[in-house]
Amino acid sequence: MTKLITIYRCQQCGFDNPKWAGQCGQCKAWNSLVEEIKEVGGKRHEARKRASGGRVVKIAELNIRKEQGQRLATGMHEFDRVLGGGIVTGSVILVAGEPGIGKSTLLTQLSMNVGVPVLYVCGEESPDQVALRVKRLGQAKNLGLLSETDVDLIVETARREKPGLMVVDSVQTLTSDDLMGMAGSVGQVRECASRLMRLAKDEGISVFLVGHVTKEGTVAGPKVLEHMVDVVVELTGERIGRFRILRTLKNRFGATDEVGVFAMEDTGLVEVTNPSGAFLEESQAGMPGSAVVVLLEGTRPVLVEVQALAVKSFLPVPRRVAQGIPLAKVQLLAAIVEKHCRLPLSNYDLFVSVAGGVKIGEPGADLGIAMAIASSYLNRALPLKAAMIGEVGLLGEIRRVREQARRIKEAKKLGYAQILSSETAARLPAAVKLWLK
Ligand code: TYD
Ligand code: MG
Repeated sequence: MTKLITIYRCQQCGFDNPKWAGQCGQCKAWNSLVEEIKEVGGKRHEARKRASGGRVVKIAELNIRKEQGQRLATGMHEFDRVLGGGIVTGSVILVAGEPGIGKSTLLTQLSMNVGVPVLYVCGEESPDQVALRVKRLGQAKNLGLLSETDVDLIVETARREKPGLMVVDSVQTLTSDDLMGMAGSVGQVRECASRLMRLAKDEGISVFLVGHVTKEGTVAGPKVLEHMVDVVVELTGERIGRFRILRTLKNRFGATDEVGVFAMEDTGLVEVTNPSGAFLEESQAGMPGSAVVVLLEGTRPVLVEVQALAVKSFLPVPRRVAQGIPLAKVQLLAAIVEKHCRLPLSNYDLFVSVAGGVKIGEPGADLGIAMAIASSYLNRALPLKAAMIGEVGLLGEIRRVREQARRIKEAKKLGYAQILSSETAARLPAAVKLWLK
């Protein structure tokens, strides 16, 4: 007889503790115990062994259809691009993001536009709430709602109904009766996701899992699932701002550096096909402290505005505040500007931000950030219609960046005739002299 028991397994040493405790009884690691299911009796194990029979399959024997045919279009061009050309049948896709960012909106729109029957499992909202949203956003012909949080019931329903696609909103609300933990605990989230994975692979149903992350990204959810699922996409942006950026963090079937840009309107998420134009709509070009940089978002060059404000500080340790840029980068660039351009920024508070809720994570914007800081300090504006591309080294040198030619081309296309890069100036002091006169 097979029996399922729950144990608390240490994530550090693998020791099975019979009860939850703050510390592992074996290796003494803290907070490392996670609830898991263990089978005793071994029968099921035997059955599972027999399933593959230990047989090795030759690639040639596998009936692999043309990949293109296996992908399902989402009905949203930007979403398709992020997924690498549509949804692969039977794949499990995790949609991560902070609460309120628009994950449910995105997946409701997807459910309405995709060409196959959809089962939308609403664990967080009532079916009425989802129906209300559907009504606001348009029409849905093929959409079935299921208000359920028991994962085994959900799997059973899906096996019976055989939808082409399933949305689970959210994975943190699911529970399995076989585990004792609360919904949202690491053990529950992992077990529920693995049962849904099995469903997806067995039945060829593509599954979208919604997973919340907090600002620190520590909550049980996306992080513990990342290695299990096929694709992880993250929806980011400022909740009060208009723009949302959808980014691939992991993709077993495509590139991981694709980015889709959406705007949150009262009709839902609208695709932004010309992100540069949208981000620069309210740019303050011509004002001291404003600089336009060319970022590479995925494979696409995008122009955004960086703003800096340097004001005299009355604090012993002046403030450095950054939004959309890692603080360490601002501190570093401020130090480089101070040392090599001889601007005494250490008596100044410094605030730097990126417009449009974009997050800068690559070195191509270094030059623009440094120039914005210098521009604000000197109270002189950078030339109009000038774009900045370049990495800045510790010695003040300006370096070439990845895909520089493509970035320049994109900037020129948008009417930015003047480009400041390593080709225009070799070092930061020269750039300041040249452009901040
Ligand atoms: P939601 O998709 O519920 O967020 P999540 O599922 O990630 O928690 O979206 C929340 C916000 O989106 C909410 O503040 C309202 C806004 N919104 C719009 O602006 N327009 C719309 O058409 C919809 C449906 C939502
Ligand atoms: Mg939601």
